[in-house]
Amino acid sequence: MKLKYTYTLLTAALLQTAAFAQKVNIRKAFDHAEKQTTVMLKEIQKAKDPSKLEIVSPRTLEHGYLKLVASRDWTSGFFPGVLWFLYEYTGDSNWQTQAKKFTTEIEKEQFNGTTHDMGFKVYCSAGTGLRITNDAHYKDVVVQSAKTLATRFNPKTGVILSWDHSRDKWVNPVIIDNMMNLELLFEATKLTGDSSFHKIAVSHANTTMKNHFRPDYSSYHVIDYDPQTGAVLKKNTHQGYSHESSWSRGQGWAVYGYTMCYRETKNPSYLKQAENVANFILNNKNMPEDLVPYYDFDAPGIPNEPRDASAAAVIASGLYELSTYSKNGDIYRKAADKMMNSLSTRYISPVGQNKGFILLHSTGSKPSNSEVDVPLSYADYYYLEALLRKKNLGENKSLVKL
Ligand code: GLY
Repeated sequence: MKLKYTYTLLTAALLQTAAFAQKVNIRKAFDHAEKQTTVMLKEIQKAKDPSKLEIVSPRTLEHGYLKLVASRDWTSGFFPGVLWFLYEYTGDSNWQTQAKKFTTEIEKEQFNGTTHDMGFKVYCSAGTGLRITNDAHYKDVVVQSAKTLATRFNPKTGVILSWDHSRDKWVNPVIIDNMMNLELLFEATKLTGDSSFHKIAVSHANTTMKNHFRPDYSSYHVIDYDPQTGAVLKKNTHQGYSHESSWSRGQGWAVYGYTMCYRETKNPSYLKQAENVANFILNNKNMPEDLVPYYDFDAPGIPNEPRDASAAAVIASGLYELSTYSKNGDIYRKAADKMMNSLSTRYISPVGQNKGFILLHSTGSKPSNSEVDVPLSYADYYYLEALLRKKNLGENKSLVKL
């Protein structure tokens, strides 16, 4: 049975609270982000180990210390993306200089075919640089990255393989996060005229729509496929509370991913899917009043469970774009506004603290007790992206690719 989700009284109540009355101040938020990122650039220099030159990008705080990661880490592209967003908003060429420098450190990932995280690493860095500067060099990086990512597509399963690791648990694991890599493929077809990348993206989106979702439109995290037949072997979690629970960031990847797929294809089934996932999120009985989710919508200790500000940032950014396509756009835009208001007031780092991270209170992986209630570079990235989308919405500008 398919549950019908519409604009419920719960959603209405959530959107009418006093907190929503405040408006997100985009200028103030970027001013804060500039101050924090200036701190971060200094902290990166202090934290760098001359004997480990491959360690390039900030990811999180570990016991109060800044944790930097190599370009192969799935989070390496987010800080370069933050720098590009600061350049885009301010027009200050110093941010462009830093953005180029940090993007250069990531570019070798264009040849790394051992992971699906190409979109996160290369599209958020070089892809954002391409959008903003139209530099032909970034075009080459994006196209090569798409070629490398395409090697992970299996026509028998119809999906891109996510992980090479965890072979003790899964034969051919595909995670909902992988929807985020499809934007790179759509872009590569537009840049080259080679439709094979677009076709892979569509196949992945369709197969994921068929296998990754429950009747209430919540998403599983990991689907394991038989690589010979394409049969689904397991429906599991990795970072959520349990196999049958709804990991919050995963729901965010889903709503953002299908909204982006609708933008790129105009296939109405993707729009419907994005709306259904958005409604699952916004109508969830465990969604807190401030619309910043707990790390899992079914975490057993709610309300004493960690929040995930990164999930809120991803969802808000996705909802802003969805608001431009959906007949319920007003609801989605207001919900995103409320999330952004919460993030920018209650989840924001005091200036000069937390080594320059912008947002606090994200959760990487609660089940492995890793990165619980900490800043995370991807929370900052999607927060700034959402702010830029909100700004463009306010100015009636296109949100395409932003
Ligand atoms: N893509 C990994 C995560 O969302 O934690």
